[in-house]
Amino acid sequence: MTLYGVGLGPGEADLVTVRGQRVLEAADVVYSPGRLSRSVATEHVPEERIGDIDFPMTRDEEKLRRAWKAAAAEIAPQAREGTAAFVTLGDPNVYSTFGHLRRTLGAFHPDVEVDVVPGVSAVTAFATALGVEIASGASLALREGARGAAPTGPDRLLLFKVTDVPATHEKLTAAGYDMVYGRRLFMEQGETRVTDDPDELADRDYYTLAYAEKRGLDDEPVTASFEMADTEVETETEAGEASDTEVNAQADGGSRLLGDRSDVSDAVAMERAEGIAWGDEIPEVSPR
Ligand SMILES: C[S@@+](CC[C@H](N)C(=O)[O-])C[C@H]1O[C@@H](n2cnc3c(N)ncnc32)[C@H](O)[C@@H]1O
Repeated sequence: MTLYGVGLGPGEADLVTVRGQRVLEAADVVYSPGRLSRSVATEHVPEERIGDIDFPMTRDEEKLRRAWKAAAAEIAPQAREGTAAFVTLGDPNVYSTFGHLRRTLGAFHPDVEVDVVPGVSAVTAFATALGVEIASGASLALREGARGAAPTGPDRLLLFKVTDVPATHEKLTAAGYDMVYGRRLFMEQGETRVTDDPDELADRDYYTLAYAEKRGLDDEPVTASFEMADTEVETETEAGEASDTEVNAQADGGSRLLGDRSDVSDAVAMERAEGIAWGDEIPEVSPR
């Protein structure tokens, strides 16, 4: 009685979550909206269990609605009789076709239960692949950069669908941003590329994203200063102080650092103390 929306992650077969893999292995039929997601799904499911649905390559809204209605009509009986899964690259709830299916099922087959297994999204995978850190306290906005678009404003932007890298690059550079581009990150299908040179990615590939950061941002995390520090002596002193703080924080459940707060549980006190010890922001704890 259930349709599972399963996030496959960015494309490498071993970045499917354990839960996603279990659902795929148990499903009677697995539907995939495209060739790439199908090639990842078939790493976990035999071809015979892959279901058939057709999606027209069109922006015509009426044709798209008809196609989703037909897809829902095919999938609903399978989900009623057993377990069906619909896979998407990344996460099913982030810029994904799965939302169309969920809404169409809700409208025409409301008895079908829908459950979602989250996946590793390009929204987070990009940071590792591009060697970028979105530090605690920083903001990051998600936008689309299709056909040379270059939205601006926020300090840090992640742009999806960057199909004309040189055009987007020119506009963002003029608007005061530095960029790094990623193509086919953590994908087995096609060559993975990470570069800040737009000419290297002049050919169109839908699986391209851009990370843009305003030039001259001045919000470095506390530990960034170590990278500039004059090595050994300072490192030893700093390390000694840090571990003393840490030991004390753990030994007294944080009360030395927090003051005697009887309204804060030991666990919360410990979390807050760790936050202090590691330089993170201290969350507000509401009195109980
Ligand atoms: C329609 S969105 C799908 C996002 C997906 N649901 C997710 O959570 O990652 C497609 C866009 O995401 C980005 N993208 C997704 N996977 C990617 C990957 N492995 N490498 C680079 N970009 C990727 C590209 O910009 C692409 O145009």
